[in-house]
Amino acid sequence: MVNGRLEGKVAIVTGAGAGIGEAVAHKFAKEGASVVVNGLPDDPIEDVVKSIKHYGGKAIAYAGDVSQEFHAQNCVQTAINAYGKLDILINNAGVFLATAETQDYPVDVFDDTLRLNLRSAFLMAKYALPHLQKTRGNIVSAGSEAGYNGLAYNTTYGGTKGWMHSFMLGVAVEQAKYGVRANCVCPGAIDTAWTHKEEGPMNAKMEKTLIDATPLARRGTPEEIANVYAFIASDEASYVTGALWLADGGVTTAKGAAGADTPIWMRFAPKGELRLDHSQEGLENKETQTLI
Ligand SMILES: NC(=O)c1ccc[n+]([C@@H]2O[C@H](COP(=O)([O-])OP(=O)(O)OC[C@H]3O[C@@H](n4cnc5c(N)ncnc54)[C@H](O)[C@@H]3O)[C@@H](O)[C@H]2O)c1
Repeated sequence: MVNGRLEGKVAIVTGAGAGIGEAVAHKFAKEGASVVVNGLPDDPIEDVVKSIKHYGGKAIAYAGDVSQEFHAQNCVQTAINAYGKLDILINNAGVFLATAETQDYPVDVFDDTLRLNLRSAFLMAKYALPHLQKTRGNIVSAGSEAGYNGLAYNTTYGGTKGWMHSFMLGVAVEQAKYGVRANCVCPGAIDTAWTHKEEGPMNAKMEKTLIDATPLARRGTPEEIANVYAFIASDEASYVTGALWLADGGVTTAKGAAGADTPIWMRFAPKGELRLDHSQEGLENKETQTLI
């Protein structure tokens, strides 16, 4: 069912081959947007495009690391060439590559994390803004509860999310005079590769702590986060700018292991409507390290 909340809009979703980005791409297409599905060359973006089209949506792929200026520029140009305008930029691309205490955190992983999480968002905003100013469009970027609270054992990652929050707040104030809005969606633990010890660098203790600390006592689904993106990116949120929109199961507000009090029978995630095939594949083809 197409709901039409984003009817006629053109959106770029970075990092949309897996995880939350895949869900955002599907959700936006379902709401009527034409979507540029970006990802790294090895990511299953063509498959996401195919699936969106299968369900009647409009999408094209752009493969390329948008932390490189050439690809950021080309990704934006792809939207313009294909659809003639740009209304929405979703800065979702990001990585979670290592867990370690800070004194043990590898310098090359620090550099990669800043490049892939921050440089990508800056470059995409830089090249998208002239087009967003024409459409009075908006940017929604991937913040995190970790941007508020920090993240022990991946302090680098938490730091990138704090930067993302401040980056969007500055853009919101600066670009309001052009009619452009800028916000962050700030998820808690979401059911992607990152929060599973089998698929990413978290160990069993870290994985358990994530859930115990969350009052809703479960991971959020990619679709639950995509629903928040869809609202904030839509005209229904026309008065929302400079917002850091928590969607974290309550973890930021909780003090201590609040999730332990939530009964097991209440912990089930909604089934959702989107057909997502790559939710937990985001760390495939990437080298991750568990040093704790
Ligand atoms: N999963 C969580 O628990 C969680 C919580 C809070 C915030 N977030 C944020 O949400 C976003 C998505 O997280 P996820 O868990 O879905 O990750 P994921 O690994 O499942 O998907 C991210 C995708 O982005 C791609 N990507 C990374 N850098 C890229 C680049 N420079 N250019 C193009 N593509 C790139 C990856 O290859 C991957 O396919 C991230 O920014 C993350 O910080 C996630």
